[in-house]
Parts: sequence; structure tokens; C-alpha cells
Amino acid sequence: MKHWHPASWQQKVAAQQAKYPSTEALGEVLAQLAGLPPLVTSWEIEALKLQLAAAERGEAFILQGGDCSEDFSDCSSPTIANKLKILLQMSLLLIHGLNRRVIRVGRIAGQYAKPRSEECETRHGVTLPSYRGDLINGQAFNAESRTPDPVRLLRGYGRAAMTLNFIRALSDCGFADLHHPENWDLDFVQHSPQAAEYKRVVAQLSGSLRFMEALIGSGNSEMNRVQFYTSHEGLHLHYEQALTRKVPNRSGYYNLSTHLPWIGFRTSDLNGAHVEYFRGIKNPVGVKVGAGMTPAYIQALSEKINPTNEAGKLILIHRFGADRIAEALPPLIESVRRSGISALWICDPMHGNTEATASGYKTRRFDNILSELEQAFDIHRRERSILGGVHFELTGDDVTECIGGARGLSEAGLERAYKTQVDPRLNYEQALEIAMAIVRHAEV
Ligand code: PEP
Ligand code: CO
Repeated sequence: MKHWHPASWQQKVAAQQAKYPSTEALGEVLAQLAGLPPLVTSWEIEALKLQLAAAERGEAFILQGGDCSEDFSDCSSPTIANKLKILLQMSLLLIHGLNRRVIRVGRIAGQYAKPRSEECETRHGVTLPSYRGDLINGQAFNAESRTPDPVRLLRGYGRAAMTLNFIRALSDCGFADLHHPENWDLDFVQHSPQAAEYKRVVAQLSGSLRFMEALIGSGNSEMNRVQFYTSHEGLHLHYEQALTRKVPNRSGYYNLSTHLPWIGFRTSDLNGAHVEYFRGIKNPVGVKVGAGMTPAYIQALSEKINPTNEAGKLILIHRFGADRIAEALPPLIESVRRSGISALWICDPMHGNTEATASGYKTRRFDNILSELEQAFDIHRRERSILGGVHFELTGDDVTECIGGARGLSEAGLERAYKTQVDPRLNYEQALEIAMAIVRHAEV
């Protein structure tokens, strides 16, 4: 890789970075981080790339989802298990309905840094730095908490390691056994409007599994575990660099903090530090694609991120909003196709559909989310392209952050359990409903 090394981004302008009071203290923490073991391995990353290449060919489908931003306090057994449960349940519905392998990727175990539109926040005449995620500073509105603290990088690494450790243990034992999907039921599943449909699918899948095992004559041990990958926005470049490593017997550098890091919409400047960092690593790389990006820009970006035209390397995550996708997406699909560069298109129907209610809640309407998704499937079909996956902000908990869905959550109902500090997430029921809608729409 020409003129690239893990620190070459430092020669460019880095948007959305924390301003630490002491460069020395930051340096000490980064040195410590650089000496700690990786969180994921290059084998896992290469295996994911192969699966993403299959998704590009329409043979697999990626389901990426989780919180907008994880809090350090989310590193608890119920929060992690519930997130895993909803993603596993959605993936069952998708496997059954789409007849394709589903690649499960959580926005988890490292999704701790957030881009913000304002550098500072003012309350009652007091101005302090904006909250940028637990990796950087605290939510409490006082000077001490809002001052970026490098020690948080070590705590974030620790939380990511603990989260991943629990995910790995759950994925590899009885919990993930496809013979016992009842392990994934959430307490409130019985009351959900989608419960009957979900149970019908599970019963069918269990029947097929028993049939297959009777035919083969033994239990299939591959069915006792599931594969689960991690992802986060690679926003804090010092943190990402500290976990970027060379590994024995492979060329190049891997970001070993996560399997699938992505570049956020606000940090995708072609000449900026984030694109510089990402162009050099061996991981698959996601790029958020949104309003205002031109065909020429997308083409140049794709060439930079995927210079050797490797399948499964570049994931273009489009997020235009329900009212813009029809106009904005087709020219971009065409330009990537013309460039001949391999890319996997997936749809994030969340980030272009954010709005504020009169009472000040940041929310999203279920109907807009669904509409963007349905349009995405239609547009890709019409353009003879493949929509290879979906990207959601969701939670396995019973929150009230997005309006609508089968239960008809109203604007007034948001206050019951509005918990997010950043973007609104689909709750458990809304997430299941979306998975069912994907199946219905992808079939037509
Ligand atoms: C996000 O995924 O939480 C996010 C900030 O998205 P985007 O970069 O697309 O705005
Ligand atoms: Co978000």
C-alpha cells in the first residue's frame, strides 16, 4: 500500500476528534492500548470477507444492527443477551423467508464514539463540549464529565472485551443451539403482535432441522452454534490505530478491535484522515452513503477503499431517507457499476429518517423506515443490482423511541420508555415486524 502506514492519517485533517487537555496523557494510554491483545482475529475477518463476497453475489444477506451508541453501562448480561436474542430471531425469520445464509453483525462491543453536529452544548447560559460517546467523555452536564479523558479509551477496550467474551460464550454453547430457539425468547414475546407468526416460522424450521437430521442419521453439531460478528464506527482514529496490527503469515495491517469497522457519513471526506486510515487496512470496510454524495465522489471513494478490487471488501451502506432515495440512489448504483469495483450494497433506513417531535424527542417513524427499505429493494431490482443486507438501530428491550409499528406507538407514547442518549432505536417488536416486512417485500 503506497505511502500508507497506520499513522499516515495524522498528516490529514481529522473531523470529529476529541480535544484532550493533555497530549502526554493520551500518548501514555495509547501506548498501553497498543500492548494489549487484539479483540478479534485476522482469521475471523477473512472469513467474514468471504461471506460478504457471497452476499455481493446474492447468496447471503447481512443483518447489521444494534444501538446507535453503546453506553459503558450497557455492558451487562441482560442488555447483551437481549440484543443477541433479537438479532438471532430476526436472522431466523430472514433465513426462512429469503432462503439465504444470514451474516449477523452487531453494532456492538465497541460502538462507543459518536459524531456530533455541534462542538459544544449550551444549557442555561453554560457552554461545555458536546457529549461524544462514553469512549470520549461523560453524559453529565458538568465541566469535569464533559472534558475528554483518555483513560476512557482503556475502559472502552475493557468493556468491548467483556462484551465480546460474553457473546463468544453464548454463541458457542447451548444458548445458540438451533434446536432450542426458545432460549432466544424475550419475556414479553407472548404479548407481541408478531408472536404467532414468529412461532410458526420457528416450528417450521425446527421441523426441517429434525427432518434433515433424521435423513443424515445424526445431530448436526454445526447447528449448536452461531456465527456472530462485531462492528462499530471507526471514528476515534487514535483508538483504531492502537489496535491496528500486523499478524504472522499474512501481509498488511488488520484493525483487530472489530471485524467490520465503518466510516460515518460525517467523516467520509475523500481527502480527510478517516478515508486515509481506512484505505490501508485489510478488514472489510463500510461507508455510509447519503444525500449530497455525487456519482464521481462515490466512484473515487470506492477506488480508494477497494484499490485491489477485492470481493467482500467494500460495503456501501446507503441512508438517504424515504423521500430522497428514489432520486439519489440509482445514479450511484450506476456509477459503481461503471467503475467495475466490487461492492456490497446494504440499506440503513434509519439515519435519513430522523426527526424531532414538538415536545423535543428525536424520533423516527416506522412507516418511513419501512418505506425506505421497500424502495431500496425495488430500486436495486429495477437497476439489476443486489441489495445484500440491512443496517438498523435497534434494541432487544421494550423501549419507546420510534413512532408507529403494529402496536401503533404514538408521539405521546414516546415518553414511557425513551432511553437513548443519541438516535432512536426500533424496539423488540418493531424489529421483528421489520424482519417480517423484509421477507414479504424481498419475495415479490
Ligand atoms: C450512525 O450509524 O449512528 C451514524 C451516525 O450514522 P451516519 O454516519 O450514517 O450519520
Ligand atoms: Co445513529
